[in-house]
Amino acid sequence: MATKILEKRLIREPDVFYFKLDVPNIARAAQPGQFVIVRLHENGERIPLSLADIDPEEGTISLIVMSVGKTSSEFVALDAGDSIRDVCGPLGQPTHLDKLGKVIVVGGGFGVAPLFPIARGFKKAGNEVIAIMGARSHDLLIYEKEMASVADKVLVTTDDGSKGIKGVVTLALEQELDKGDTDLVIAVGPAIMMKFVALTTKNYNVKTMVSLNPIMVDGSGMCGACRVSVGGKTRFACTDGPDFDGHEVDWDLLMSRQRMYLDEEKESFDAWKARHQHMLVEPN
Ligand SMILES: Cc1cc2nc3c(=O)[nH]c(=O)nc-3n(C[C@H](O)[C@H](O)[C@H](O)COP(=O)(O)OP(=O)(O)OC[C@H]3O[C@@H](n4cnc5c(N)ncnc54)[C@H](O)[C@@H]3O)c2cc1C
Ligand code: FES
Repeated sequence: MATKILEKRLIREPDVFYFKLDVPNIARAAQPGQFVIVRLHENGERIPLSLADIDPEEGTISLIVMSVGKTSSEFVALDAGDSIRDVCGPLGQPTHLDKLGKVIVVGGGFGVAPLFPIARGFKKAGNEVIAIMGARSHDLLIYEKEMASVADKVLVTTDDGSKGIKGVVTLALEQELDKGDTDLVIAVGPAIMMKFVALTTKNYNVKTMVSLNPIMVDGSGMCGACRVSVGGKTRFACTDGPDFDGHEVDWDLLMSRQRMYLDEEKESFDAWKARHQHMLVEPN
């Protein structure tokens, strides 16, 4: 059955949008850290998207979609009232939201959005929650207000120094880790950011979970597209993850597999752009 888009909002000019979807069955079962796979229309590609919020009473989930290629551009061209052919989920293992003490959540790119329900869950479980969020520049930050509403402290870093600490997220992370009282770090964002978060926390011997984002196809552990190596063992991010111990991930393998189809992705996006100029938002 098709899924109705109830709400659409521009989150960040010009290419990041919020969508609220009417999916009571998924909303009732979903937990922070999980994701869905959507197929926009009968001939559409399946793309995974993290849950940026879950409202079981309302029967809705929220997604943040960044337009980066063909399918995400098709998605952000949809409006409230439009329908999506399939929304499959909730998929993946939920994040373990235990009471631990002090939890630092680190987000970059669209990763800040799925970190919001995770941060809220850790706060609800009785933890002190410190949120660190980074971007190249202040105008690329998303979900700052939302994160501030659930975290005890929010530290912002920007590469150009236009807001918060000038530099990358690991600078702010080191400042917090130096206090010596951190029980867990969770990172969600680009693989390169998560890799450096894990390298930083390794020096402090602080447990670190990361949410891996390899290419996925079926999302059910059958196709093997999302295989990653963790602790020397092959794991499927869609069914065993997406959360894994960041100190055990083979980051180089993950990043090379993410780039496997760059030529095909470019070709498919170029062909789509040629046919749909009017629907296009230029990515930041
Ligand atoms: C568990 C998970 C959660 C994600 N959550 C979000 C989210 O909340 N918001 C968001 O904007 N994006 C999210 N992504 C990334 C999103 O799935 C890709 O941006 C999207 O698939 C790109 O498709 P495209 O056709 O627009 O671009 P393409 O040009 O096809 O691809 C652009 C890049 O996106 C990645 N990608 C492409 N296809 C896939 C695929 N099938 N599975 C995973 N990655 C792919 C590749 O790195 C690729 O180089 C998530 C990915 C994973 C694995
Ligand atoms: S996406 Fe096919 S096994 Fe994970």
